[in-house]
Amino acid sequence: MAQPLETASDSALQGATKSRYYWVTPLGTAIILGLWVLYSLWEVLFHNSGSYGNYISPYFSPGVGNWFGWHVLDALYVAWIPLVFRFSCYYYRKEYYRGFFWDPPACYHSERPRPGYTGESKWPLAFNNLHRYAWYLVFIVLVFLWKDTVQAFIFKSGFGVGVGSLLLLVNAVCLTAYSFSCHAFRHMVGGGKDCYSCEGKPTVRYKMWHRVSGWNVFHGSWAWASLATVWAADLYIRLLMMGVIHDVRLF
Ligand code: FES
Repeated sequence: MAQPLETASDSALQGATKSRYYWVTPLGTAIILGLWVLYSLWEVLFHNSGSYGNYISPYFSPGVGNWFGWHVLDALYVAWIPLVFRFSCYYYRKEYYRGFFWDPPACYHSERPRPGYTGESKWPLAFNNLHRYAWYLVFIVLVFLWKDTVQAFIFKSGFGVGVGSLLLLVNAVCLTAYSFSCHAFRHMVGGGKDCYSCEGKPTVRYKMWHRVSGWNVFHGSWAWASLATVWAADLYIRLLMMGVIHDVRLF
């Protein structure tokens, strides 16, 4: 049987339904990011170490404080790097501008007039231009997180797998996917070039840019997944350190 054609009023109704719930996503973003920021402040400002046995919390790695014998607020020497990276992320900017500033809360809402708005050309929003440089630093941190992941499978008794090992592994995978699907990384790989087809055949650079563009489509999903895994891995290790739970060894 033929389906009835969609009418203008159907479209208007869908639009109204859509806009009626426009606040759900920005409100959810504000709640989750707000809780995560509070948790991170508690973790970074009120703890001087973040390791339990062969597990090292991603907030405390690499252990710069240990290298130099500084044992005050150890996480602060490193945690600012992923925090700057995450808060200057193009995807998160969209999310937290909507969630916290509500201006506009969704793409089909008009913006308030802002005569003095200078975008990211002046402080404080110019801070977001640090994103590319934060990527370089995050790459170094990622190398250490993978080293910690390998270490998380090596117990005193030899190779083994605990819940903590798996959490750190999933976290390293998600953070790697988040970092390598980054818009700034995509620009590093393929930006600054006007014409790829001018060379007659696909270049290696074009192929790399094409691959990173495919990863970039899912950047928002990796952003949330990596936030969840960093949080879960750190919380698991913190609860072990506090004696609230015991590590479960799978073998
Ligand atoms: S754009 Fe999100 S991490 Fe770079």
